[in-house]
Amino acid sequence: MAQSPNPSATKTIAVVGAGTMGGGIAQELVRHGFAVLLRDVSREVLDRAAERISRGLAHEVEKGRLKDSDRQQALARLRITIDWTELGRADFAIETVTEKFDMKALALQTLERQCRPEAIFASNTSSISITRLAATTNRPKQVVGMHFFNPVPVMKLVEVISGLETSPATLQAAEALARSLGKTTVRANDFPGFVSNRVLMPMINEAIFALMEGVAEARGIDEVMKQGMNHPMGPLELADFIGLDVCLDIMKVLYEGFRDSKYRPCPLLEKMVAAGRLGRKSGRGFYEYSPG
Ligand code: 3HC
Repeated sequence: MAQSPNPSATKTIAVVGAGTMGGGIAQELVRHGFAVLLRDVSREVLDRAAERISRGLAHEVEKGRLKDSDRQQALARLRITIDWTELGRADFAIETVTEKFDMKALALQTLERQCRPEAIFASNTSSISITRLAATTNRPKQVVGMHFFNPVPVMKLVEVISGLETSPATLQAAEALARSLGKTTVRANDFPGFVSNRVLMPMINEAIFALMEGVAEARGIDEVMKQGMNHPMGPLELADFIGLDVCLDIMKVLYEGFRDSKYRPCPLLEKMVAAGRLGRKSGRGFYEYSPG
């Protein structure tokens, strides 16, 4: 039976970055009753995200998990913009920009110039220190990590990360928001890669080493983890899904953060990213993908 969104939680949430994660988070937010300001530098990226969100919500109606009237209201709550000043209306903001410290710090500082002093900022970083990101703002108590998983509409988890200065109220607000989206929250402390990528990325990196050293072909390595460990996707298929550039960025954060050679990125991964073989998003990674 299709659930109607929770009317009492109508808050305005800004999502900075309209890529795969930003678009997925915006879809879940409007689906659950929030007004969303989705910001990106490119109109083209914004239009593609709005199209994906519309298709994603239509899929929920097809599956009987959402009423068509609620789909229409959800889309009416979505505003896409390239104008930072519009984000001043947000009570809460989630940044989902590229997995680079400087880009994320710039996004948080730009948000700070627009948003009210009481607004909370969350980062969807996969691995970067929340304490360091928060220290680039004047509101470190109101900065928290909210790590969503791809595809956001399907994956149940939100990893919630406290920086050294994050207040208990900010942490609870982030958890309450995630739960109002039907997500499960797990708290992690501020270490490189948190729990999720501290465990996942070295596995993927090791699978790439196994491929580079000729232990087996890509398909074979993936089948072993799917048939042998019941993983929904093999590590190389998953790396293509996540994006090889993102995998490399995260391995670098682990390597620099722990200064431990066991986290050194596999040379084959570095070479593929240098060649522009980023996985599904570039049409080629460990496998080839037809466009669309
Ligand atoms: N967006 C939205 N929904 C999607 C989707 C997408 N990209 N891909 C699949 N789905 C939905 C389908 O619509 C379908 O929904 P339905 O049951 O309502 O019809 C459901 O997921 C199952 O899809 P399919 O039947 O097409 O295919 P699969 O059964 O193979 O499922 C998958 C696809 C959900 C992606 C599954 O392969 C999976 O769980 N893979 C692992 C994903 C994973 O590990 N994600 C985390 C990556 S790590 C991360 O994000 C952290 C970051 O920091 C790196």
